Amino acid sequence: MDTIKLIEKLGQEHILEKEEYIYLITSCQKEETELLFEKARSLRETYYQKEVFSRGLIEFTNYCKNNCLYCGIRSRNTKAERYRLSKEEILSCADEGYQLGFRTFVLQGGEDNFYSTEEIGSLVSEIKKRYSDCAVTLSVGEREHEAYQYWHDCGADRYLLRHETATKEHYEKLHPPALSFEHRIQCLYDLKAIGYQVGAGFMVGSPYQTAEYLANDLLFLKKLMPDMVGIGPFIAQKDSPFAGFPNGTLEQTLLLLAIIRLTLPNVLLPSTTALGTIHPKGRELGILAGANVVMPNLSPVSVRKKYELYDNKICTGEESAQCLGCLSNRMDSIGYQLVSKRGDRV
Ligand code: SAM
Ligand code: FES
Repeated sequence: MDTIKLIEKLGQEHILEKEEYIYLITSCQKEETELLFEKARSLRETYYQKEVFSRGLIEFTNYCKNNCLYCGIRSRNTKAERYRLSKEEILSCADEGYQLGFRTFVLQGGEDNFYSTEEIGSLVSEIKKRYSDCAVTLSVGEREHEAYQYWHDCGADRYLLRHETATKEHYEKLHPPALSFEHRIQCLYDLKAIGYQVGAGFMVGSPYQTAEYLANDLLFLKKLMPDMVGIGPFIAQKDSPFAGFPNGTLEQTLLLLAIIRLTLPNVLLPSTTALGTIHPKGRELGILAGANVVMPNLSPVSVRKKYELYDNKICTGEESAQCLGCLSNRMDSIGYQLVSKRGDRV
């Protein structure tokens, strides 16, 4: 196989055979990567020009009933200092975000049954009522079809649920037996059928991941056709069972961002905080590899450090306005503009 030919093929056909994805992931050399990034950027600019969309992330609870082996807020982590934001606190984060120019709010949290389906629905309706020009995204894990439908009826526009890995045997190495691979995948199809704009995704360099598993992820994404794909490097969390595993790398994350852009040309693709955590210019490099979204934090500074999914997470001491200013400068520095828009997929 020839890497350059594979890049050309991916650029034209937007899909490769599994073996070809594996070859690309394992054999792409530095100059070839540059070509891949160039193609990814140019495709991204066809749809989104030089604009970068932002989503205001409100991490409203770090209680979680699950015990994913990689995650810092897993239920068994007795060292995590738990917090929950009240409805008023969440709404005041959204108010501040709106003033700052955010037109999408993401309500994210652990799987925390303290908030009933109705309470989450009423939060969504209240934000939509106050800010009808904004999109509301939920990211609160696996629920039944009924709850997803209810929240959609309340006005939720989007839902983020990373599939984590499209390979069942890998899924079972990252999660305890209580969590089911089939259920997670079913949730994604349910969300799509209900009419949400859906975000799937995975960690790059998670324990036991192979190039074949990554190829499975790419083929799964091509089949699901999500509106958004969230990927970021796995970063070990010191109190988790995966504390001793190496972090995912900048290079592999950038490579996958570009491959995803070429596989799903108009997808919404965030350059994540995790990428900014493993490299000081990680988020800028992510945009230069084809990403078009950033997700700054709108949670109160007093709780930010506590939503530590992984070690050394950035932006936990900065006010929302500071982060926005900083990100905006960062985007300017590479010739892109952070814009105040809902940022729907074109
Ligand atoms: N509970 C919701 C869910 O399960 O989708 C949303 C919150 S969950 C903590 C958000 C994402 O954080 C996960 O989908 C996972 O990919 C990512 N994450 C968790 N631990 C991580 C780690 N150690 N390194 C990098 N990403 C991590
Ligand atoms: Fe948060 Fe730079 S984006 S401080």
